[in-house]
Amino acid sequence: MRMLRLVLWGAVASVAIALGLASTGLVPSRLPELARLPLAASVGGPFELTDQSGKRFSSAQLAGKPFALFFGFTQCPDVCPTTLLELSNQLAELGGNARELTIVFITVDPERDTPELLAAYLKSFDARVVGLTGTPAEIATAARAYRAVYEKVATSGGYTMNHTALVYLMDAKGLLASTLTFQEPAATQRQKLARLLERK
Ligand code: NI
Repeated sequence: MRMLRLVLWGAVASVAIALGLASTGLVPSRLPELARLPLAASVGGPFELTDQSGKRFSSAQLAGKPFALFFGFTQCPDVCPTTLLELSNQLAELGGNARELTIVFITVDPERDTPELLAAYLKSFDARVVGLTGTPAEIATAARAYRAVYEKVATSGGYTMNHTALVYLMDAKGLLASTLTFQEPAATQRQKLARLLERK
């Protein structure tokens, strides 16, 4: 009976994960702490993309230091600019303690988000934000590694992108430490970031 219960609970958790990660920028994720779920160990992985200065950027460059990573696009009306602003404010608040922290913003709209456009967009935020773009296949690889989802949605004026709105807090070993969810209280985010920076 206990075994069966465990199996059933596992199934429930899997469904919750699937639903949470299917949440989009327009319907922000309410997924609880990913880190508590068994799937946490399988979040993260290698990718090769291009940064906002046009240089190739490998996930290997992130090794040995904590980073906060999320997916979005520069024409996002709400979630992405808010997240970047919140993270920039957190970096300012954390001051020297956040020296080691890199913020990684990966576009899910490479068709429009060229390195030049990313560079111009990111001028409005903390200078530590690394903006990454690439070929559709390169971006798909990065999104798969983080179990993030995105899709193109037609609008009257063209298209928009729905995307996973979680911020993945990765430790120096490249393991998922926690996640930030959209419009979580600033104090909660600060605690999570501070805990991330304390992890060895
Ligand atoms: Ni967005």
